[in-house]
Amino acid sequence: MDVSFMLNGSPVTLTDTAPTTTLLDWLRDARGLNGTKEGCNEGDCGACTVMVTDDNGALPLNACILFLPQLAGKHVTTVEGLAAPDGTLHPVQDAMVTHHGSQCGFCTPGFVMSMATAHQRGEKDHDTALAGNLCRCTGYAPIIRAAEAAAAQPAPPHLGSLALPAPAMMQAKQQPTTTSELATLYAANPDATLIAGATDVGLWVTKKMRDLGEVIFLNQCTDLRGITETPDHWRIGAMTTIADVEKTLHPHFPSLGTMLRRYGSAQVRAAATLGGNIANGSPIGDGSPAMIALGANIHLRMEDERRDMPLEDFFIAYGKQDRKRGEFVEAITVPKQADTLYCNKLSKRFDQDISAVCGCLNLPIENNHFGAVRLAFGGMAGTPSRAPLAEAALSGQPVTLSTVQTAMETLAEDFTPLSDMRASAQYRMTAAQNMLLRAYHTITGTQTDLQEVRA
Ligand SMILES: Cc1cc2nc3c(=O)[nH]c(=O)nc-3n(C[C@H](O)[C@H](O)[C@H](O)COP(=O)(O)OP(=O)(O)OC[C@H]3O[C@@H](n4cnc5c(N)ncnc54)[C@H](O)[C@@H]3O)c2cc1C
Ligand code: FES
Ligand code: FES
Repeated sequence: MDVSFMLNGSPVTLTDTAPTTTLLDWLRDARGLNGTKEGCNEGDCGACTVMVTDDNGALPLNACILFLPQLAGKHVTTVEGLAAPDGTLHPVQDAMVTHHGSQCGFCTPGFVMSMATAHQRGEKDHDTALAGNLCRCTGYAPIIRAAEAAAAQPAPPHLGSLALPAPAMMQAKQQPTTTSELATLYAANPDATLIAGATDVGLWVTKKMRDLGEVIFLNQCTDLRGITETPDHWRIGAMTTIADVEKTLHPHFPSLGTMLRRYGSAQVRAAATLGGNIANGSPIGDGSPAMIALGANIHLRMEDERRDMPLEDFFIAYGKQDRKRGEFVEAITVPKQADTLYCNKLSKRFDQDISAVCGCLNLPIENNHFGAVRLAFGGMAGTPSRAPLAEAALSGQPVTLSTVQTAMETLAEDFTPLSDMRASAQYRMTAAQNMLLRAYHTITGTQTDLQEVRA
């Protein structure tokens, strides 16, 4: 595959590149740019963080799960290209020295690139920006102090005017640039693997050592990305990143925004797409329970034929979705509604962890009675699922502790969760039931909402 991008100010054109070569391997093996480190090779530690810039600004991305064709038309800045051309250190580099932010130094380039990207974006929430970077020896306090000190300095001009490849060089050749081209190509090659943000697919290559065979990259289909708003709904293109979903929907559904803040890390949210999160059918993904609770529809396309369905119907069984060969996810639509959503992500760590249970509870109330509630859970069954019996136990009933306790008991008839390394079956059930209790206490103001205190 051919691809063109910019690297630290210089154009790069690669021909006949294996499409699943990661940026990390290429930087280190082909370019000798060893400042970008390999720690976990699966998106968890941030040692490989680079800054990737395009017309929409700078993003922090994990180079270990980023394939070269995903860089088409973008500018990659590695730690070697961060200082100004005259050698002046970037403010975050300078502050890391002053505040003793590095000991063995292995994690340092990754931290510096996350900090520099957040600095460039004007982000001041350093805990959020650095939640995807692990350090095992310095400790985080000096690093956060360095980030705070650097935040007082202006962004260096050389990073604000990064050149992008000329339009003629923008494309990774042989790849679709519109949704219609994708539809034609995929129908003709239905066994190809679609690659969106590669936060799942990347691991198939780096951890499972799979040869993916034929692949189709979706990153150049710009009409598949973004959120459009009508009076009735939001239409979220399949290639919209979790970070962009969070940004748009947080003001309307604060608990969804708070939960998505804990989805992976800044690097993962900047790459992962809502379409990929849903299409993979994971029973422990966070996007699907939230979208199901909001009554979202999924829109599928094969060539020019389109169909849609309530999202919950897309998940048939573990690993099986209602998607035909050659059919792809085009969009998800979320109906506009008053905010009655209570999202809970329960995981062993607060940041950067997959959910043991994700419970999204949509609890409209009229005249002190529950309306048409929607309870959606991940981690409780082989697919993201609603809880029909518990929903029936709530709908139309008075908002009382006794109603909620009945629904909690009924939840045990909706699900028979599994025990695995993340949680036991009993823990999952107790936690899911307590999510209902927590929502009740939040609604009635009878107990402090811990989530809000933390936020
Ligand atoms: C470090 C790390 C942390 C993570 N944390 C979380 C977390 O907290 N919560 C969570 O839910 N997930 C998490 N994930 C999982 C992952 O981020 C998501 O599943 C992600 O949304 C997948 O989206 P993607 O764009 O990266 O998909 P890809 O990896 O590109 O694709 C995933 C699957 O979907 C298919 N696909 C992609 N787009 C389409 C489409 N439009 N139509 C049809 N099929 C398509 C692909 O062929 C593939 O089978 C994490 C992953 C990593 C590496
Ligand atoms: S090497 Fe750990 S996130 Fe890339
Ligand atoms: S300085 Fe050693 S891992 Fe962070």
